[in-house]
Formats: sequence, structure tokens, C-alpha cells
Amino acid sequence: MELAGEVEAIGKDVTLFKAGDQVFASTFKVNFGAHAEYKCLPENGAVVTKPNNMTYEEAATLSVGAITALFFLKKGNIQPGKKVLINGASGSVGTFAVQLAKYFGAEVTGVCSTQNIELLKSLAIDKVIDYTQEDFTKNGETYDIIFDTVGKTSLSQCKSSLKNKGYYLNTVMAGSMINGLLYSMTTDKKVVGGTAVTRKEDLVFLKELTESGQLKSVIDRCYPLEQTAEAHRYVEKGHKKGNVVINLQHDKKA
Ligand SMILES: NC(=O)c1ccc[n+]([C@@H]2O[C@H](COP(=O)([O-])OP(=O)(O)OC[C@H]3O[C@@H](n4cnc5c(N)ncnc54)[C@H](OP(=O)(O)O)[C@@H]3O)[C@@H](O)[C@H]2O)c1
Repeated sequence: MELAGEVEAIGKDVTLFKAGDQVFASTFKVNFGAHAEYKCLPENGAVVTKPNNMTYEEAATLSVGAITALFFLKKGNIQPGKKVLINGASGSVGTFAVQLAKYFGAEVTGVCSTQNIELLKSLAIDKVIDYTQEDFTKNGETYDIIFDTVGKTSLSQCKSSLKNKGYYLNTVMAGSMINGLLYSMTTDKKVVGGTAVTRKEDLVFLKELTESGQLKSVIDRCYPLEQTAEAHRYVEKGHKKGNVVINLQHDKKA
């Protein structure tokens, strides 16, 4: 659903873009899909000029990973000074969530395995918990926001680690939303799941943050389009660092 590339041609009524513009976009609200050489998008959709300090590969990762991180953190009422825990902090949503939570002035703890500790430190995180050594739900610490970006925890596990008026955010929680709704209605804590909404103004915000040096993309591997199946097999192992990108060599003469 995420892509970046050059505008090849425009429709006769298009005014916002011209051929040759470098853009990044989300196809979420159009017809999904972006494993392709060409994609037709409405000019008023989620299409924005690419950050001038990012490659196409880096820019493509913003439209889902960073948008999802931003959407959930805003739902969690992120504020300066809030104590935030990001579980799965080494994934796509996670690496963006760490950087965005820091941008919003939060005190950020990330949970990852031993091999990703240095990666999280490179994102200027405040504290790292290695999940192979320590269970954050059992160490007595409490947080204003617990953001599980990889759906590896449950609400019941995290309840006692949430402060009063805290938020439990989970990107992969469809099955337990009823419990979450009941919990939100009967306590002073809130549970947020569901699907992130992609808004053009948020893409513009992410572009500006990137250009001012406050947001970067972590790329694990790139695969050519012909190896898309291998790319998915790698991602489905559940251990990528940041993002995996499919790239194309576009031959204009062809
Ligand atoms: N709700 C929405 O709107 C929305 C939008 C986008 C994505 N999603 C979903 O969000 C999820 C996250 O996607 P993603 O691309 O950011 O990452 P991902 O590829 O699903 O996860 C990769 C990361 O998870 C870490 N991880 C694996 N097991 C873990 C555990 N037990 N505890 C903590 N971390 C663990 C891995 O680190 P290690 O190798 O160190 O274990 C790896 O860095 C996906 O399920 C995706 O479908 C939802």
C-alpha cells in the first residue's frame, strides 16, 4: 500500500502535480496494492512530494509505517513528559513510533531483542528493555502509554503496567476489541486498536519532519520486484529491522 516514485503522466484536469515530480504515496484509500511499475492515483489522495533528503526507498516507508505510528500515538494523547513504552520498537511502526514519541517530548522506553538494542540506541531512545532478558509487564514500571506495535501482548498482561488515565495501543488487536471497549468504558484507562487512517496532511507533516532531520527511515533489506515472494517470506518471519522495500529499475527507453 505504500510507494514512492516519479510522476510519469498526469490527467488533463490535474493541477497539483506534473510529469517528473518525485512523490510518495499510500494506496490505502484507493484500491490497495503497490507491487507494480505504475500506479494511477487521484491528485487529492494521499500523494505528497518526496522529502528532499530521502531516497525513494526511504520515502516509501513513511506512508504506512510512520503513518500508523503517528495515528496511534495521537490516539494515545501523546504529550511532552509522558512515559511511553513501545513494544516491537525495532519494526517499521516501532522505529517510527520511537522517533515520533521523542519528537512529541515523551520519555521513551523500547522493547526489542538483544540484536536490536544498538539500533534503538541510534534512534536516541531513553531506555531499552531486552525482551529475551526481562518481561516489561512484570518489572513494576508503569507508563502513560503502552504501544504494542507488533501485537505480542494482551490487554490483561499490560493492565498493571498502565498508569491511571493511561492508554493501551495495539496495532494487531482485532480479536479482543470487545474486551478493550468494555475496559475503556468501565475504567479510567483507554484501549485503542483498529486501522490507522491515512491523511494527506499527516504525510505532509512526516515529510517536513524528515526534511528537518527529525525523522529517518530504517531499511533492513531491498528486493527487486521479481523477488517479491522472497521479500514477503522474509517479512513474515517477523524479525525484520525497520522496513523491507521492493525496488524497480525503471528503464525510460523501454
Ligand atoms: N492497525 C493498523 O492500521 C496497522 C498498520 C500497519 C501495520 N500494522 C501491523 O502492525 C504490525 C507491525 O508491523 P511492522 O512492519 O512494524 O513490524 P513487523 O515486521 O511485524 O515486526 C518486526 C519486529 O518485531 C519484533 N518482534 C518480534 N517478536 C517480538 C516480541 N515478542 N516482542 C517485541 N518485539 C518483537 C522483531 O524484533 P526481533 O527480531 O528483535 O524479535 C522485529 O524487529 C504488523 O502485524 C502489521 O500488520 C497494523
